[in-house]
Amino acid sequence: MNHNPLNKQGKSVKQRVFSGIQPTGNIHIGNYLAAIRRWADLQSDYENIFCVVDLHAITIPQDPQTLKVKNREVAALLFAAGIDPKLSSVFIQSHISAHSELAWILNCFIPIGWLRRMTQFKEKSKKQDEVITMGLFDYPALMAADILLYATDLVPVGDDQKQHVELTRDVAQRFNSMYGETFKLPESITPDIGGRIMGLSDPSKKMSKSDTKSENSIFLLDSPDVIRSKVMRATTDSMREIRFDKNRPSINNLLTIYELFSRKGRVEIEAQFEGKGYAYFKNALADEIVENLRPLQVRYYQLMDDFSYIDGLLKDGSLKVEPIAVKTLDEVKEKIGLG
Ligand code: AMP
Ligand code: TRP
Repeated sequence: MNHNPLNKQGKSVKQRVFSGIQPTGNIHIGNYLAAIRRWADLQSDYENIFCVVDLHAITIPQDPQTLKVKNREVAALLFAAGIDPKLSSVFIQSHISAHSELAWILNCFIPIGWLRRMTQFKEKSKKQDEVITMGLFDYPALMAADILLYATDLVPVGDDQKQHVELTRDVAQRFNSMYGETFKLPESITPDIGGRIMGLSDPSKKMSKSDTKSENSIFLLDSPDVIRSKVMRATTDSMREIRFDKNRPSINNLLTIYELFSRKGRVEIEAQFEGKGYAYFKNALADEIVENLRPLQVRYYQLMDDFSYIDGLLKDGSLKVEPIAVKTLDEVKEKIGLG
């Protein structure tokens, strides 16, 4: 895939990709298939910036020590999954203060009604036992700042983030119409297949990082035994055929996971499992997941042996992208009369 336009000299200018991931809970195969692996697959066609969004993480309570450690772990997982520091800049959101500054400014241009409509806020606030903070409500303004600071063209995310990218476009348009062309309008790119991977034990709920104790999610660092046991215990229905069928959510979800990991086509997959039972299919699925995650896990543990190497990559990432963010922020401040 290459949507790169030509510049005045007729050379291809790479479009810029930006995306983010929260350093919370455990990264699961939904995050991997819908986001991280696609970032890695796309990276040679684009100019890429990936951000570990710790300021978004604190919209719900976090243990300080754990959060610090998670920042590094999530970064290491991105590198282990194939994000190449030569092609992509990776950095920690809180290391570049322009994100918080622009988020505040955008707040002053986002009507409250837009935020009230955000389905993720409605869902998260229902689940939240503790106080619901302004930060959680305002989460999309910070995400808009992340994206707009870098004149992003494309935002590869899972389905649940599409609405936030829409809001980003809306606020960019509103600002541009008031102050003249300032922000580039980004577009989300969601996967055709697997933009919302569902839980294994409850296929009516999406797979989630905070499902730590349950069998619902497969985490990227689960051992082969744990992966196999979760897959074998996954909910199925009482029908027999192993077919893609939206009306059979449990088997459809498992088949989708198989399809994405194996990179095979649907016809081939259905033929492969024709006349076979669920146990046979589940074993094949477990093998596919284990074999796909094995190299990633090996690289992850190697990387985590050398914190200074990961921290160095993150430092390089922020040094490279910060000037872009500062330039956008300065332009915005100038236009609205700050400073
Ligand atoms: P988060 O864990 O919220 O930081 O999400 C990181 C990326 O994973 C985002 O692009 C999400 O849209 C995506 N994502 C999260 N959960 C799922 C899921 N169950 N299926 C597919 N994509 C997901
Ligand atoms: N909100 C996103 C999520 O939970 C993470 C995120 C923060 C993000 N800033 C972003 C994704 C900017 C894309 C672009 O998944």
